[in-house]
Amino acid sequence: MSSRPSSVVESTSVIMVSTALDQRMVASALSTQTTLVLMVSTTLDQRMGRPVLHGHSGFDVVVVDGIAGEVDEVARRLRAAGSVYAEDEAALLCAAPVSHAALEAMVARRVAGAPLEHVLGWAEFCGQRILLDDGVFVPRRRTEALARAAVERLVAVARRSPVAVDLCCGSGAIGAVLLAHRPDTTLYASDIDPAAVRCARRNLPEAREVCADLFDGLPAALRGRIDVLVANLPYVPTGDLPTLPAEAREHERRIALDGGADGLAPLRRLATDARSWLGPDGTLLVEVADAQVPAARTIVARAGLHPQLLPDDERGCVVLLGARRPPVTTGV
Ligand SMILES: C[S@@+](CC[C@H](N)C(=O)[O-])C[C@H]1O[C@@H](n2cnc3c(N)ncnc32)[C@H](O)[C@@H]1O
Repeated sequence: MSSRPSSVVESTSVIMVSTALDQRMVASALSTQTTLVLMVSTTLDQRMGRPVLHGHSGFDVVVVDGIAGEVDEVARRLRAAGSVYAEDEAALLCAAPVSHAALEAMVARRVAGAPLEHVLGWAEFCGQRILLDDGVFVPRRRTEALARAAVERLVAVARRSPVAVDLCCGSGAIGAVLLAHRPDTTLYASDIDPAAVRCARRNLPEAREVCADLFDGLPAALRGRIDVLVANLPYVPTGDLPTLPAEAREHERRIALDGGADGLAPLRRLATDARSWLGPDGTLLVEVADAQVPAARTIVARAGLHPQLLPDDERGCVVLLGARRPPVTTGV
């Protein structure tokens, strides 16, 4: 790997820097007459946009392909460890604003099987960077459909300050997307796992976080007032847990995954109370596996809600809505 500057440089005529952070550190310390040789991986340059110093005045900037070797070496190690997206992962790891020693530790963790998102400390979700702590459920790309459906309901609420609840919030990824699209939302985020709640607090400083079982921690005054109740519940049948990828089995908590015998035990418990918490036009939104659709629909209908499906064939799961009011039909 190439060397990473460990301290700020003051008057060097030619120095070598690699990551974006290194470049920023150097930019703030260099005198204006310095010629700076940027050692930037072609891969990084393309992926991360132009290196930050391109925009600075007062430097002669010469870009050479210096840390391509670093990215290539990390990619080689990840590939040897079985990573399918070794080049992409290597580019992300090498772009982390950390010292050489810290990068080495990150690569070692990834090689040992930790999820990339836990190693990086963030996950991308609906175009947002969600901070992620070890052990907290990694937001899945398939759940973006659930978040988008929830956003659609939320932005359709005509009055100001709609009320939304991200139940079983994990890192708070869904709540973060809701707030990004409707910043005047009064958002509650709740999870039974204290580590998840701590993580959600980092992502949702504007929200009210609660650590509790399902609705237990929500203020009673919220009953009958929720416009959007979104819950990405655990829904893996207990018997299927051993078939999950090792990254999930070994690095995510069982409580985040295990949905009981048929995977729908949490939904049954949630549905029992959901109607009384929803406002007159409120909607419950959950994600279930394709195979669970008939049973999940019945659960939602028996709870007094009007079920509607938003299928997504490519992901093996669907978004299931349960609205308090029946959907409007055109009568054509
Ligand atoms: C599948 S993860 C979803 C996390 C997050 N919403 C997401 O999509 O990334 C399920 C979450 O539900 C939480 N959970 C499990 N049982 C719960 C319960 N009874 N009450 C509240 N949260 C629960 C877990 O701790 C976990 O964070």
